Amino acid sequence: MYVYKYSIEEKGFVDEKIDKSINIRDEIKKIKKNKNAIILAHYYQNGEVQDIADFVGDSLALSQKAAKTDADIIVLAGVHFMAETAKILSPYKKILLPDLNAGCSLAESCPADEFAEFIKKHPEHTIISYVNTTTEIKALTDIACTSSNIFKIIESLPPEEKIIFAPDKNLGNYIKSKTGREMVIWNGACHVHEEFSLEGILELKKEHTKAKIIAHPECEKPILLVADHIGSTSSLLNYTVEDNSKEYIVVTEPGIIHQMIKKNPEKLFLVAPPKDSTCGCNDCNFMKLITVEKIYNTLKYEMPEIKIDEKIRKKAEKSIIRMMEISEKLGL
Ligand code: 13P
Ligand code: SF4
Repeated sequence: MYVYKYSIEEKGFVDEKIDKSINIRDEIKKIKKNKNAIILAHYYQNGEVQDIADFVGDSLALSQKAAKTDADIIVLAGVHFMAETAKILSPYKKILLPDLNAGCSLAESCPADEFAEFIKKHPEHTIISYVNTTTEIKALTDIACTSSNIFKIIESLPPEEKIIFAPDKNLGNYIKSKTGREMVIWNGACHVHEEFSLEGILELKKEHTKAKIIAHPECEKPILLVADHIGSTSSLLNYTVEDNSKEYIVVTEPGIIHQMIKKNPEKLFLVAPPKDSTCGCNDCNFMKLITVEKIYNTLKYEMPEIKIDEKIRKKAEKSIIRMMEISEKLGL
């Protein structure tokens, strides 16, 4: 037992070699059944992780699922803030994250002490934060949001209400330009979505003139300006199903293409190139830390577990519950 604890403290995950003779997918199914556990996976996970999950979705859908499930154990195949959100909503459930190193550059770009100072400088503003934040930021927030529900959340507020939006500046500026609302925006960003190359995308478009450009709003403005459709991961996925085109240039983390191909096997999906063509850095290195093997060990040893101090959880819960209530009322 000491070995596993040691490896979690040192490495952030259960580092145990898996017997090659077992069928890992069958074993995962058995353990899940015995322990009443489920696996929730984000669209940015590797295809093989998505395929063993009980549910695959975007940030909003994952939090809704985590709040409603009657499983005793939730394995979050995603990043730290997603597992924390699940714990905030389900404090009595065991929430497991297969690798504690699965962080998020966007969440990191908004430290709580600096954000508290920022809020003080802008009194009488309603604080809206993307779920891609730490629990400490959520505790300072009035309403949480995701890229799926942000417009509806803003529309639910009186037009004169002043807003602080954090942490993503690209998403914030995009909403501000679309809604014309008075907004102060935190200067944060996601390193994956800032990595896409406009020149590379336009080159690809020259070769595939009929391809539609579909982009996540965490991308930089010049890219959003050339996009045919902008939306959350689930919105991009739905668009590829409803739209008649045959080719798409996908400007978000390429893990989502796994579901796009499943839903549209006859269509072509092109990965938008990064600025540095040698690095492959449009893959989210945090998301991709989760593997089928780590999920197996996590289920087996019920580690690493997400724990949150109850006082801060209670404060953070309010902003997520407000988001869930508004989303539910609007049928999102
Ligand atoms: P959504 O799941 O809300 O589309 O967000 C994308 C993302 O960056 C998650 O890390
Ligand atoms: Fe965070 Fe960006 Fe990775 Fe999403 S894609 S988890 S926002 S670093």
